[in-house]
Amino acid sequence: MSEKTEKEQKKKDAKKGELGGKAEKVINLCLRRGILFPTGEIYGSFAGFFDYGPVGVEMERNLEAAWWNHFVHSREDVVGIDGAIITHPTVWKASGHCDAFNDPLVECRKCKSRFRADQLIEDELKISVDGITLKQLDELIKEHKLVCPKCRSELSSSKVFNLMFKTHIGAVEDDSSLAFLRPETAQLIFVDFKTAQFVSRKQLPFGIAQIGKSFRNEIAPRNFVFRSREFSQMELEFFIHPTKVNNCPFLNKHVLETKINVCTAEMQAKGGMGEVVEMSVKELVEKNIVKTKWHAYWIVESLNWFHSLGIHPENLRIREHLKEELSHYSSETWDVEYNYPWGWKELEGIANRGDFDLKQHAKFSGKDLSYFDAEKGERVTPIVIEPSWGLERTLFTLLLDAFEEKVENGKAKLVLRLHPTIAPVRVGVFPLMKKDGLAEKAREVCESLKKEFACEYDEAGSIGKRYARMDEIGTPYCVTIDYDSLEKNTLTLRERDSAKQVVLPVKALKETLQKLFSGSISFSEAGKPVT
Ligand code: GAP
Repeated sequence: MSEKTEKEQKKKDAKKGELGGKAEKVINLCLRRGILFPTGEIYGSFAGFFDYGPVGVEMERNLEAAWWNHFVHSREDVVGIDGAIITHPTVWKASGHCDAFNDPLVECRKCKSRFRADQLIEDELKISVDGITLKQLDELIKEHKLVCPKCRSELSSSKVFNLMFKTHIGAVEDDSSLAFLRPETAQLIFVDFKTAQFVSRKQLPFGIAQIGKSFRNEIAPRNFVFRSREFSQMELEFFIHPTKVNNCPFLNKHVLETKINVCTAEMQAKGGMGEVVEMSVKELVEKNIVKTKWHAYWIVESLNWFHSLGIHPENLRIREHLKEELSHYSSETWDVEYNYPWGWKELEGIANRGDFDLKQHAKFSGKDLSYFDAEKGERVTPIVIEPSWGLERTLFTLLLDAFEEKVENGKAKLVLRLHPTIAPVRVGVFPLMKKDGLAEKAREVCESLKKEFACEYDEAGSIGKRYARMDEIGTPYCVTIDYDSLEKNTLTLRERDSAKQVVLPVKALKETLQKLFSGSISFSEAGKPVT
């Protein structure tokens, strides 16, 4: 390669690595504060695998709890399970993953680097090639003379690459002991359907939820944790009587009037991949844009959950999958997409899996997985609507959405306007100084809150620095103990989002925080303003 071509290529590569200024800053924050970072860094790490640090693990657990609370504990019609990661290999034959869970792979004929053909084309040509055949991918590569992004040499033709990680069970390593790490948590729910239904005595319609690790040997993990090889999923399989997919009691007037940003298959066919129109849920169901009412309900419910965590609604849309793009098990899929710095991309998928999975497992296992409809006295195979979230992708999206950089006194300041439910620390407690009994008093206050809220005591550096440390990990409130605290038993409470401060009695702190977190009072009602 000539020096000029090499320089141009380096420039191009650098540009490709740019996720957009905001994403780079959020990633930097994640690395700097130990929220999430590549695993095994001391050994040069490992693409597509990440560890949570002390701050990140709190966010991870809070997000799991928020999801479980919303979709399991708050409902009468959903129960949970926790299935095994390494599962009976026939599960994946039955589910279709052995045959169909593939990505197109191309290899450089010279340097032997491997790439995902569709992503390489999308990166180079800026077009969407979702769902097109290997032959069509090869034709595009040929037509546009696409070459290896690393060494500019010729690429091989595309071949299928199965994304499941393989392992062996027991001491013998041959085909008889071959097993797979699960690429989705969903299959465990289908396999356990009969048992979970029997022991929970749930009647249709009802759902089974699960949170756990999934593994995909992605050819090109990218965009930090957005596409990784090991990640957690939060999945819900909602089972519905096959003749009652439109009997959804939750689509009341209020829900039907909800307005949603939509990108339909029709809009995409007309070339409007990036377009969004606002539609009411009523329009979506009455015009048969979303084919079943239960599917429409789970779309709204998913969006509501994201809104409840503070995601800006204008950054979310739902996009219908094109026919060619549908997974092998789905008859209709809508993605909740977020407007990432790298474009609208999937945050969550909501698929109509029909009776595909239960029927496949019944066929392969020889076991009856149907449901007895006592009313009609017949056995039916339920239809499944599946909302499926990636935990890390959701967390990364929450961080991106909450991230703000402002300039104060000529200095850049980061604020993570994270919802208190997700915030790793809910209350920071500081003594103004370490001396004169202030530290002891602040520790006492911190101890008194600990059982109720995640608190952090910090006495290092200036108060400004301590606020800044808390702001950038999203701590909603900070408490300062000063000399008035010793004399008058008062304290100063600071709100992250407004940076405003109020003074209140120490003994009123716990109740005031409870009210602030539950939203029953505003910050201006929390105490006497500090002017
Ligand atoms: N059971 C259905 C299913 O697994 P999916 O669209 O392949 O559907 C669901 O995955 C969600 O899991 C996605 O919306 C995304 O949030 C997350 N996800 C999928 N692949 C991922 C990856 N490689 N890295 C991180 N998250 C991923």
